Amino acid sequence: MPSIATLTMNPALDIASTTARIIPGEKLRCTVPRYDPGGGGINVARAIHKLGGEAIAMFPAGGPMGELIKQLLHAENVICRPVPIAGLTRESFTIDEQQTGRQFRFVMPGPSLSADDADRCLDELASLSSRPEYVVMSGSLAPGMTSAFSGRVAERTRRLGARLILDSSGAALRNIARGDVYLLKPNLKELRELLGREIVGPLREEEAARELIARRIAEIVVISLGRAGAILSTEEGCWRFNAPIVPVASTVGAGDSMVAGIVFGLTRGETIVDAVRYGMAAGAAALMLPGTELCQRNDTERLFAKIAPPAPCG
Ligand SMILES: Nc1ncnc2c1ncn2[C@@H]1O[C@H](COP(=O)(O)OP(=O)(O)OP(=O)(O)O)[C@@H](O)[C@H]1O
Ligand SMILES: [Mg+2]
Repeated sequence: MPSIATLTMNPALDIASTTARIIPGEKLRCTVPRYDPGGGGINVARAIHKLGGEAIAMFPAGGPMGELIKQLLHAENVICRPVPIAGLTRESFTIDEQQTGRQFRFVMPGPSLSADDADRCLDELASLSSRPEYVVMSGSLAPGMTSAFSGRVAERTRRLGARLILDSSGAALRNIARGDVYLLKPNLKELRELLGREIVGPLREEEAARELIARRIAEIVVISLGRAGAILSTEEGCWRFNAPIVPVASTVGAGDSMVAGIVFGLTRGETIVDAVRYGMAAGAAALMLPGTELCQRNDTERLFAKIAPPAPCG
């Protein structure tokens, strides 16, 4: 049984297609769609699998889309535990416009989860036959869920003797208590949301990273900065990493691949500095592939060797 479990409270069936031109009011003939299982934690589990590791993906699943996500994960040999719910799992559409190269992404809200649905997801986590070392909660909460849910996941994770890795936004980040989170991976937008202020420039970014550690929001904070790299902050210090330069085919999936790389690195016993380097390599590797494709292992390994050790923050 894998030592990583991922939790995705609002998964989606990702449908990607292309059309010549988006013209209002016209029938837009699209190419044969590609179907992918999607949502933060599901992508993290898929990316870990691509990197050569194993993770179990847990998520609420309802209706035919929930079933299809399960089947697609099976086809990729990703272990999963769908938790049946009454609502219908959502779909997301990505349409690439051939004539302009523009991309349109349509994101549905997802089904409301009742308190009972949420409880059953937590129970599923508690009932894993072998205890995970890490629980990764990634992606947004579903409609109807409150910010208290993150605390409940943290409590279950603690009881399992595991560590919680959180990559989320909005309500899931509100009210995190001291000691809840082992590793937090916000991007700049999520960091702003979390601290409730603008963060502009390297000095403010580093100050924010240190503040989260001082406030014991998490033991490890990794702020991802897109092509500008990342900042790692722990009790031991604060470091800045430069991202490798890669040809960008699509920006989808960098964050999820990064989290996958970091947690996979940690389970392999790497230092946190090397785990973050590996995560950055996986994030960059995801960008080299078109559409929603996640990181490939050989690209990740090659980029990992190119990412220099970080410099201490100023
Ligand atoms: N253009 C880029 N070039 C090189 N590396 C990149 C680039 N964009 C992202 N990365 C790598 O991937 C990591 C995660 O990317 P990013 O900060 O965009 O995550 P995110 O905002 O959470 O993404 P997502 O939208 O997928 O959730 C970065 O810290 C960096 O290491
Ligand atoms: Mg992200």
